[in-house]
Amino acid sequence: MNNRIISPSLLSANFTRLKEDIKKVEVLGVDRLHLDVMDGNFVPNLTFGPFIIKDMREISSSHFETHLMIKNPEKYLKDYIDAGSDTLIFHYEASKDIKKDLTFIKDNNVVAGIAINPDTKPEVLIEYLDYIDYILIMSVYPGFGGQSFIQDTLNTMKYLKQITKDHNILIGVDGGVNINTIDMVYDTNIDITIVGSGLYGASNIKERYQQLIGK
Ligand code: DX5
Ligand code: ZN
Repeated sequence: MNNRIISPSLLSANFTRLKEDIKKVEVLGVDRLHLDVMDGNFVPNLTFGPFIIKDMREISSSHFETHLMIKNPEKYLKDYIDAGSDTLIFHYEASKDIKKDLTFIKDNNVVAGIAINPDTKPEVLIEYLDYIDYILIMSVYPGFGGQSFIQDTLNTMKYLKQITKDHNILIGVDGGVNINTIDMVYDTNIDITIVGSGLYGASNIKERYQQLIGK
């Protein structure tokens, strides 16, 4: 109960008042934010790049987990590290050299994360467990906020929690988590729960956050 960590996805924030929307959750005790980077290529949607993250860095001391939904992530890792990411996550499906990309991130003293799509078998990560700090399980197909939670991915969560129990690896879940689905996620003992529209879409964010965290 006390170990629950919610990382709000700013994809569902209002970008004309980004600072306000960041502060709105930080005053509630949030100290981790999920930043969705989309390139219009790996996923059919576009968001923001390192410049905006750099500006956000100036107004927030929360842990920034940057979720790269981009092709050729190796070309841009340094930019997102320099922008102020604390955790940097690339997609298993996009990387050409997983060990190299993970090692590069760690060598820059940033937490190295890898994301897998709902249809990627979690077993593919076994050979990389010694290199991974964080696994982000996609519970929707990446690209958009507000999609429905794919229940099959609960098995992936349970499986990865089990096979990583002797490793120092955090497991997160991203997509479709809201007050109706969050208890199933918590039941898997997940470490980090990303919530976008399920939090920012609420008329009373404080009340919704408390419901989500289980207070
Ligand atoms: C989806 C993004 C998610 C998204 C989650 O491609 O990676 O982080 O913002 O949004 P919700 O919680 O609305 O599904
Ligand atoms: Zn994300």
